[in-house]
Amino acid sequence: MFSDAEILSLLMGRRAGYSLPQAFYTDADVYQADLKNIWQKEWIFAIPSAELPKSGNYVTLQIGDYNIIIVRGADGVIRSFHNSCRHRGSRICAASKGSAPKLVCPYHQWTYELDGKLLWAREMGPEFKPENHGLKTVHCVTVSGMVFICLAAVAPDTRELEKQAERYLGPHDLSNLKVAHQSTIVEQGNWKLVLENNRECYHCSGSHPSLCRTFPDDPNLVGGDDSTSSNVGKAHVERCEGAGLPSRFLISPSEQWRFVRIPFLGDAVSYTMDGKAAVSKRIGSVPFDNAGSCLFFHYPNTWNHFLSDQVLTFRVLPISPMETEVTTTWLVHKDAQEGVDYDLKRLTEVWVHTNDEDRQIVEENQIGIKSPAYEPGPYSPAQESGVIQFVDWYARTLENGLMGRFRVAAE
Ligand code: FES
Ligand SMILES: [Fe+2]
Repeated sequence: MFSDAEILSLLMGRRAGYSLPQAFYTDADVYQADLKNIWQKEWIFAIPSAELPKSGNYVTLQIGDYNIIIVRGADGVIRSFHNSCRHRGSRICAASKGSAPKLVCPYHQWTYELDGKLLWAREMGPEFKPENHGLKTVHCVTVSGMVFICLAAVAPDTRELEKQAERYLGPHDLSNLKVAHQSTIVEQGNWKLVLENNRECYHCSGSHPSLCRTFPDDPNLVGGDDSTSSNVGKAHVERCEGAGLPSRFLISPSEQWRFVRIPFLGDAVSYTMDGKAAVSKRIGSVPFDNAGSCLFFHYPNTWNHFLSDQVLTFRVLPISPMETEVTTTWLVHKDAQEGVDYDLKRLTEVWVHTNDEDRQIVEENQIGIKSPAYEPGPYSPAQESGVIQFVDWYARTLENGLMGRFRVAAE
């Protein structure tokens, strides 16, 4: 229904500070433009590296038509490949996760090493060159224990991200934690509604009774341009910085990613119903229990909470114009024992509730937007500056992608 030129003109005609025109949340062509210009160009968070503790552990994921394998090699290195056999193209790994000493295509058993080299192919004749038929690679980088992949021919530079992630996230030692729990839910809503909802806490007091026991919904702490504009936030940042924990609000020049360390409410130290620690073993080199939460987002698909006793990673993947998958992973000290050092229900209940509440919010938002009566409405400058920031990033990024294609077509 919409050509790239029409999408571009819709984008340029949008009203700043307002939610997007309907097509951006519902239309199949806009969805394809999102996939091409954002999801297949930017770095996408895939998994915490701790999800693949051993050589041969793999996960697969789907981004548009691309199916991708991420696997830990015999040398311990995590790599990513297109999950498409170099014989006649069959998908090699059908499961969403598993473990295998070699990657064996189920169709005719071509067998690949974990580093993608073709090891064995039966009766292919004397001319056949296995070295020309290795798996196609996907860019893959591990940033302080978080594995990102990129489908672009040339991936964006990650040096600054890696440097800052090491400062902010390094003390939480993510690569040495273990996965305590993981949940995947599907939300009947466009991926941008999931991100928009994450970028504000205007809705928190009305929707998140469990989260609001510990998480402050003050936008000056979490959503604004200056996290230190509240005294509580300022004191927390100063105390953590004084103890060697980088904590000040930091946003990248393109505003694609941000770090900030915020305090919890009162004496709370973790996302539990009573605010007390969920895990008795403190992680990494975090110097005290009440370090609050270091919040890290990276557009288009992840936000994360780094605490003193756990790390929570969130991965968003689009499934269709109005369906989005959200995977939450809870990580704890690798020596922490369930039933001894932590109780799984206690560890997970706040965010299990919160995710489900957010799912309902997003789905209701999507149903309302589908109505022909929908028109873009104003964001609250005080409460929804984070949403404005996300939507502006999205619009700029999509615009650049679409313009780039017109430039290439014109040359
Ligand atoms: S398609 Fe994979 S071995 Fe034939
Ligand atoms: Fe929420």
